[in-house]
Amino acid sequence: MNREQAHDILMKYMKGENYITHSYAVEAIMRGLAKKLAPDDVEYWGIVGLLHDLDEEQCDWQNDMSVHGPTSAEILRKEGIEDKTLFDAICAHNPKNGTKAKTALQYAILAADPMSGFVKAVAQIYPDKKVASVKHKSVMKRFNELRFAKGANRDYMEMIEFTGLSLDDLIDVALEEMTAIADQLGL
Ligand SMILES: [Fe+2]
Repeated sequence: MNREQAHDILMKYMKGENYITHSYAVEAIMRGLAKKLAPDDVEYWGIVGLLHDLDEEQCDWQNDMSVHGPTSAEILRKEGIEDKTLFDAICAHNPKNGTKAKTALQYAILAADPMSGFVKAVAQIYPDKKVASVKHKSVMKRFNELRFAKGANRDYMEMIEFTGLSLDDLIDVALEEMTAIADQLGL
């Protein structure tokens, strides 16, 4: 599956604008992480980011978090995709379905997902609300304020260390890659 096919599938199953921009943000961060960790697989890591929440509007995760992830794999199978690496990575972004991250790709998606929302939340407290204005230092400061954006799981973000990168690296990648597509993200 290439990026265009992945995007077509995403558009078929995801309609909410916030979900779609979140998918683009996580794709961008995953591509940035891949440039450091898996330079031959930048597009593939991006696709994992793009599709990680594919089932968001297709299953009742509000009542049962265990279905979030496995349902995306079912949808992709129905679309003729058979790719265990992709399915395992999508499932690993939500430990509440019982999947534990083991590979760099899986830890990367686990960490990139909350970081995308976290950087967005930090941008929104700036006067111009632009991700381009956000400084590394203020992301770190807010990271340690546990009441700020408390839905963004700090433990998952820190799991980036299992890939060999640091939390500082993840913040730098997120700021750079989200700034590069800020127009698309409305930031
Ligand atoms: Fe997500």
